[in-house]
Amino acid sequence: MIFSLILTPLVALASPTHRSLRLLGRETTGVNSFNNTNLAQPATTIFPQKASSDAPFSLSENTLRSAIYIPSTFEYGSGSKSPVILIPGTSLPAGTTYSNGFGKLLANTSYADPVWVNIPGYSLGDAQVNAEYVAYAINYIAGVSKGKNISLVSWSQGGPNIQWSLKYWPSTREVVNDFVALSPDFKGTTEAILICSGLTGDLCEPSILQQENTSEYIATLRNNGGDSAYVPTTTFYSSTDEIVQPQDGKNASAYILDARNVGVTNNQVQSVCSNSTQIVLHEGALYNSVAWGLIEDALTHDGPGQISRLDIQTLCKAAAAPGLDSLLGESIIVNAVPNILAYHPKATKEPAIASYAG
Ligand SMILES: *[C@@H]1O[C@H](CO)[C@@H](O)[C@H](O)[C@H]1NC(C)=O
Ligand SMILES: *[C@@H]1O[C@H](CO)[C@@H](O)[C@H](O)[C@H]1NC(C)=O
Ligand SMILES: *[C@@H]1O[C@H](CO)[C@@H](O)[C@H](O)[C@H]1NC(C)=O
Ligand SMILES: *[C@@H]1O[C@H](CO)[C@@H](O)[C@H](O)[C@H]1NC(C)=O
Ligand SMILES: *[C@@H]1O[C@H](CO)[C@@H](O)[C@H](O)[C@H]1NC(C)=O
Ligand SMILES: *[C@@H]1O[C@H](CO)[C@@H](O)[C@H](O)[C@H]1NC(C)=O
Repeated sequence: MIFSLILTPLVALASPTHRSLRLLGRETTGVNSFNNTNLAQPATTIFPQKASSDAPFSLSENTLRSAIYIPSTFEYGSGSKSPVILIPGTSLPAGTTYSNGFGKLLANTSYADPVWVNIPGYSLGDAQVNAEYVAYAINYIAGVSKGKNISLVSWSQGGPNIQWSLKYWPSTREVVNDFVALSPDFKGTTEAILICSGLTGDLCEPSILQQENTSEYIATLRNNGGDSAYVPTTTFYSSTDEIVQPQDGKNASAYILDARNVGVTNNQVQSVCSNSTQIVLHEGALYNSVAWGLIEDALTHDGPGQISRLDIQTLCKAAAAPGLDSLLGESIIVNAVPNILAYHPKATKEPAIASYAG
């Protein structure tokens, strides 16, 4: 049932009138490039390791650094703005995900200087490798920003990718002010099992298998305190998410604990906006006005975003964050299926857990 809820809008959006939108996600140039030339040198050594407790990288520094898309407006820490790194989710590059959405809004603020990471293979490959791009980007952007800390915004798998980076590259925690996770699946999803059933084998990719709620990857991410925040963390999620389930109560996949007392708020849109009906899909978090309110609040205060500081009645009524369009926001998901179908090689079992995490 939920699966057909995903496919029906996808089929509609894949109609000829939307062909240009569909092609956008397959692009690997411009805002979606993972082949960027980033010449700035970090102030301290970050490769092959920043700290001896950091995990080893399996990829070259050039490969890791090239995935970071730095807009020409980026200030490298010289102005009043602080860097914000935007991390994509499964099956879409970060440019498609953010450049017409929260990336555009952040660039227009007085406090945030956004860059993003276009993870090669649209994050469909081994999620442990996807986390290498994140760990490197955190220390690289902090290293070229005149001693400023950075903040992180993620969507979907980007949430677990960041948490894995913070866990296995402890040096990253020291330069992160805030982590805002939109529709994250820290417990995986019960829906991935549907996507990887015999009927739909063509949709089965390494990171999709890793995001099944029963995967070894999720169990490893969560063990030894990985189920608790490492840095101030704000989550935003919806019980009507068509891709990540469950998203209710403390069992919500997005719900993160705070054993280390670093500051966490878990914000389910239906609880926050309890006076109105909220049907927010997985991709809806990318233009939602409450999500944007939490991002702004987190980035402009110490600690995580707090609903108590927001004009929640107004935010709950808005169709989209100011300056964003809900139809355009929904349309990005149309890129997901062609990207998944194009990915090779297909996987039949999840990648082995890396030795540093085993
Ligand atoms: C990456 O960029 C280099 C030079 O800028 C170019 O030669 C190469 O073909 C590009 N590779 C891809 C995969 O786009
Ligand atoms: C940029 O911010 C200003 C106010 O600070 C606002 O008036 C304008 O509409 C914003 N533009 C976009 C594209 O969001
Ligand atoms: C960066 O973050 C660390 C860890 O939270 C904190 O100790 C440090 O004071 C921050 N540095 C700056 C320049 O904000
Ligand atoms: C995983 O999801 C399935 C439903 O697809 C459920 O039956 C099972 O209890 C879940 N397992 C865990 C560990 O959450
Ligand atoms: C959470 O999941 C556990 C184990 O699957 C179950 O026993 C419990 O009832 C759930 N709690 C809530 C609040 O849904
Ligand atoms: C819900 O409505 C009540 C009564 O009008 C109001 O006091 C409360 O602040 C509202 N809550 C939210 C989350 O909008």
